Amino acid sequence: MRVLGIETSCDETAAAVVTEGGDVLSDVVRSQVALHAPYGGVVPEVAARDHARAVVPVVREALARAGVTAADLDGVAVTSRPGLAGALLVGLQTAKGLAWAAGKPLVGVDHLVGHLLAVFLQRDGAPEPDERPAFPYVALLASGGHTAIYRVDGPALGAIRELGATRDDAAGEAFDKVAKLLGLGYPGGPVVDRLAADGDAAAAAEAVPAVMARKESLEFSFSGIKSAVARHVAKRGRPEGQALNDLCAAFQGAVVDALVQKTVRAARAEGIERVVLAGGVAANRGLRAKMAAACARRGLGLFVPPFASCTDNGAMIAYAGALRLAAGERDTLDLAPETRTALPRVTRKGGGVR
Ligand code: KG4
Ligand code: ZN
Repeated sequence: MRVLGIETSCDETAAAVVTEGGDVLSDVVRSQVALHAPYGGVVPEVAARDHARAVVPVVREALARAGVTAADLDGVAVTSRPGLAGALLVGLQTAKGLAWAAGKPLVGVDHLVGHLLAVFLQRDGAPEPDERPAFPYVALLASGGHTAIYRVDGPALGAIRELGATRDDAAGEAFDKVAKLLGLGYPGGPVVDRLAADGDAAAAAEAVPAVMARKESLEFSFSGIKSAVARHVAKRGRPEGQALNDLCAAFQGAVVDALVQKTVRAARAEGIERVVLAGGVAANRGLRAKMAAACARRGLGLFVPPFASCTDNGAMIAYAGALRLAAGERDTLDLAPETRTALPRVTRKGGGVR
């Protein structure tokens, strides 16, 4: 089965052709980062307009690189939720038009399910098939828009359960906001990651509180640490040189510690021995190193997809869609964008005692 996947939920216009077995035949990602950088974050209207300009060429290129035409496809998958409504609409209308014109089945995919299954994609740098996780696994999904821990018993929506999520900002959002405060540009994650490598977290520890110290909870909160960095900068000015590196190291260390501790706790509470990383923040070197050490200490297997499978891409959408098609599922041309995920959420947004 060869399935085209289209992704336009946020600031990447992406399309890919993937088989039911996860072989990535093509994967085209066109980032809008430069367009949003002057604003320090994604501007929804700008995103939607740029998707509209880019989506057809991106889809054409994905088909061409895979050496197929629309007639060769077994289906068209598209991110239908969660995301920016206007941005999602562009991908949906494109997928519907193509599916209708070529007489192919259409399936909508929840973007978060795509991320959670991306570990199965087979591309350069991906683990060998026998090194890929078996179900069930515990997955940490940390991106610019979402941060949550899931128990994944299978690819279907009903087999995926949220164990805990952020009450406020996503981890990637915290990286981006702190980078903006420090004048480091957008997106901030990669820059903070680079500076943190030369920093000493202990030297800036007083500027950064521990993140959500309550041990037994599987929920995250990243807005407090962002405010602490903001207060620090307001009082002392933007640090430079070594002091900047130290602050990045302290901030990243606190965020990573929370992500690692809670993911390991979730795996132990569920009695599951496999841990999977997903989402753009999974590119963070501090997170990869600390998670690897923590999993090794407790005898947990850690599965980290290559970078191209962690950040937003069309291949994960095509693959998740192929599994839906293989299960006999399909959607009609009524399929509408939804801003929220279809996965049930257990974590309430906002502060207060739980
Ligand atoms: O998954 P993704 O590409 O898009 C969303 O669905 O949000 O994730 C993008 C997010 C951004 O917030 C970016 O700053 C963060 O991932 N990110 C990182 C790193 N690379 C990307 N955060 C920390 N360290 C990194 N190396
Ligand atoms: Zn994403």
